[in-house]
Amino acid sequence: MRVTIFGTGYVGLVSGTCLAETGNQVVCVDVDAARIGRLNRGEVPIFEPGLEPMVARNREAGRLRFTTDVGEGVAHGLFQIVAVGTPPDEDGSADLKYVLTVARSIGEHMEDYKIIVDKSTVPVGTADRVRAEISAALEQRNAALEFDVVSNPEFLAEGNAVDDFMKPDRIIIGTDNPRTTELLKTLYEPYNRNHDRVIAMDIRSAELTKYAANAMLATKISFMNELANLAERCGADIENVRIGIGSDPRIGYQFIYPGAGYGGSCFPKDVQALARSATKLGYQADILDAVEKVNMRQKRVLFEKIRAHFDGNLSGKTFALWGLAFKPNTDDMREASSRVLMETLWEAGARVRAYDPEAMDETRRIYGERADLELCDHPEQALQGAHALVIVTEWREFRSPDFAKIRELLLEPVVFDGRNLYDPALIGRFGLTYYAIGRGASVSGGGEQSKVA
Ligand SMILES: NC(=O)c1ccc[n+]([C@@H]2O[C@H](COP(=O)([O-])OP(=O)(O)OC[C@H]3O[C@@H](n4cnc5c(N)ncnc54)[C@H](O)[C@@H]3O)[C@@H](O)[C@H]2O)c1
Repeated sequence: MRVTIFGTGYVGLVSGTCLAETGNQVVCVDVDAARIGRLNRGEVPIFEPGLEPMVARNREAGRLRFTTDVGEGVAHGLFQIVAVGTPPDEDGSADLKYVLTVARSIGEHMEDYKIIVDKSTVPVGTADRVRAEISAALEQRNAALEFDVVSNPEFLAEGNAVDDFMKPDRIIIGTDNPRTTELLKTLYEPYNRNHDRVIAMDIRSAELTKYAANAMLATKISFMNELANLAERCGADIENVRIGIGSDPRIGYQFIYPGAGYGGSCFPKDVQALARSATKLGYQADILDAVEKVNMRQKRVLFEKIRAHFDGNLSGKTFALWGLAFKPNTDDMREASSRVLMETLWEAGARVRAYDPEAMDETRRIYGERADLELCDHPEQALQGAHALVIVTEWREFRSPDFAKIRELLLEPVVFDGRNLYDPALIGRFGLTYYAIGRGASVSGGGEQSKVA
């Protein structure tokens, strides 16, 4: 089938490539000429496991093309998939300017029937606005052409995006026209062979389903972080509590890890956007407001622990940071907890030596050259001359570090762990003071100077 994708970010590029992989003819359109230039030179501008060879394979096979030419894109596909960004505007609502720009371009260029598939995360009612935008553009041209608008939210998770797209848990199709449901089912057939994963519904419910899913996951995280803060104050260990409650199948083990707050391009903005939508509808969404508030507080938890340990005196101190991406297996740093930590440390006069397996270029792009930030090629290099180690992202390579080496290289034997990666008793045996999240009551191991704080 012929597919056009607007936007070659995390969603657009993965979706386009995976659709080409199953034999479709895909054209990806982006307004970012530099990005399209890189893609046409065979470079993949984002880090996503498994994506690069798949892009190369499908480009070579002639099934995947990249262009900035909107007219070419609109002419190509029966399906016009919209996967552009929907960032928060000033009040936290989803900013639809990119989505509506694409809609207008489609209306300006289309010459035959099109199915506009909205994959971007958008508030309820957006399909109507997309439809109106296209109709207005068609009217200006005096063109009476048929089109349908479908809501098809994307649930892939960065870091596992290719697998998520190829083997989705569900494919939500929101339509008001049974014919488009059938056409989309055909498009998604190759990802649907094991059992039927298509869930067809009305457009508004499909739009809300995406926000509901992200808000539910964010709620689980904020809930656990709230409990972690409580555990610290009442002498419990949140890791025991986590295992205790996860064993209940109604709760489950997924997404109940306490930590230094959630980040990324989706949860923060989607929780906010849903709460703002609620307000506009005259409803006060108290749970969503609390989820957001708890998360903002949680992103400062590592800084507060560091400040307390060093008696408020951080000026001139240096901190080794392991992990900058908002989560492992991505180079995405949007809303990352590492950014809040670095920025608060800098404000307090401290310096940062940081290491991340994939997000170093992104860090350079965001912060440029600065005297209080040194990006290191190796985790151990970051430890040299640092007063403490801070774990911010739970990359696999941080799970079993050489604790003796950490102890030897740090100026002070202190580890702040924002992801609860280590066994407090084990790390204690190496003489390291260990601060984790919600584990205040843990008993230290045997090392002479060790204590678990
Ligand atoms: N990132 C995720 O994990 C994820 C998962 C599910 C859903 N989503 C949603 O999908 C959407 C896209 O997210 P993303 O992370 O891929 O965004 P992104 O910022 O990585 O990419 C968006 C791309 O769209 C391009 N663009 C902007 N205006 C354009 C236009 N008029 N025509 C063509 N291209 C244009 C930008 O240049 C950019 O390359 C958002 O609504 C997001 O909420 C994201």
